Amino acid sequence: EELRADGLFLLPGAIDSHVHFRDPGYPHKETWRTGSAAAALGGVTTVFDMPNTSPATGTVEALRLKQKAAEASYCDFGIHGLLGDDTIERLEELLEAGVTSFKAFVGNTFGNLPAPTDGALLEGFETLAPLGIRTVVHAENSSILFRRQKKMQEAGRIDAMAHLAARPAVAEIEAIGRVLTLAEWTGARVHIAHHSAADSLFLLREAKRRGVDVTAETCPQYLLLNTGHMAKLGGVMRLNPPIREARHNQPLWDALMDGTLDMIATDHAPHAPEEKTRESIWDCDCGFPGVETQMPLMLTEVNRGRATLMDYVRWSAVAPARAWGLYGTKGVIAPGAHADIAIVDMARQGVLSQSRLQSISRISPWHGRPVQGYPLHTLLRGRFVMRDGRLVEDAVGWGRSVKTVQKMPTPRPRNTEHYSRAILETPPGVPPTA
Ligand code: NCD
Ligand code: ZN
Ligand code: ZN
Repeated sequence: EELRADGLFLLPGAIDSHVHFRDPGYPHKETWRTGSAAAALGGVTTVFDMPNTSPATGTVEALRLKQKAAEASYCDFGIHGLLGDDTIERLEELLEAGVTSFKAFVGNTFGNLPAPTDGALLEGFETLAPLGIRTVVHAENSSILFRRQKKMQEAGRIDAMAHLAARPAVAEIEAIGRVLTLAEWTGARVHIAHHSAADSLFLLREAKRRGVDVTAETCPQYLLLNTGHMAKLGGVMRLNPPIREARHNQPLWDALMDGTLDMIATDHAPHAPEEKTRESIWDCDCGFPGVETQMPLMLTEVNRGRATLMDYVRWSAVAPARAWGLYGTKGVIAPGAHADIAIVDMARQGVLSQSRLQSISRISPWHGRPVQGYPLHTLLRGRFVMRDGRLVEDAVGWGRSVKTVQKMPTPRPRNTEHYSRAILETPPGVPPTA
């Protein structure tokens, strides 16, 4: 049956640099099948999966388990390997075995992975810089967070605002500054995950001005929600970094507009409904699903005149394709190539409903939100994975690693010579002259 596309828009399929598909380890929260089905229904053709699965993606054996699980994927995928103290000796081995990039949890998060020490981060960056491989960083200073959180709990402030106060923006600002310093002095490529605070944007601006190869994402929740929504949403809102005060929303939009922030990712972080609805907000797991709702939410803002459709394409596809080196052919980066396409209806109106989500985690802060602008069809390498708003079940397993199908060019090695010299200025073992 022929496809009518008059009145519709053809966009490059969205590339989501930040999802947690939970498999191996937590299939009661999400699986590759359900997570990637959500992506297909959200107009997303490529995702990058985070390593805080169980086992964490820091060994080749763990990677093999993830690659096996991902055989059920409806979308193409990259896999971020874990950069931590006990994985820095294995980074090259992991790259060889199929990871596309790395993730460092510089701060406490789901899965309780120990944050790399600053020395390990430095060494990891030194290894990856000449290879041109980018590292995603969750940047929050745990020692600030933990002290504050402990105080709040001792004071008995077990409520929504206490959670927020326990994760102050200064923890994010401090960690971003530290990571950018290490990136500058090693020449490493870095990517700041879920940037949430207005106050740290100046660090990104300055680093970019100085020539640091840093990219950064923010998420719809940081653009569109704030503490004003907490009373209504409670434990659903629990998220790291937290959704902040309303004063942060507009500066994040401005930063997307001027290129300080490069892209939209979702931090699709599903947890089972019972893990999100516990009585005390402190007992609720952090994070919520997002890969399926990003496009309608953002297209709604386009319809409101807050950004142009071209801005949106830049944030959802062009910038991530460049950051990760996707769709490369003879040096040309062309998102949407291989017919990875979202066909959207900008006029269609509706209300987001969590009961319609493909994700196992049915709890969404977007439930009940009116939107205008929906993906209707999603094509991955020329094949429908969503048609007329419905999942094409047969396309299960059509997703592939981006390393095999998107002709990821070997990243251009960076000339990092002057950086390494700077670090080694004082060779170990040479006593300082009196
Ligand atoms: C994420 C998760 O659940 O894996 N949770 C979250 O609140 N964002 C972890 C993370 O992205 O840090
Ligand atoms: Zn994170
Ligand atoms: Zn995340």
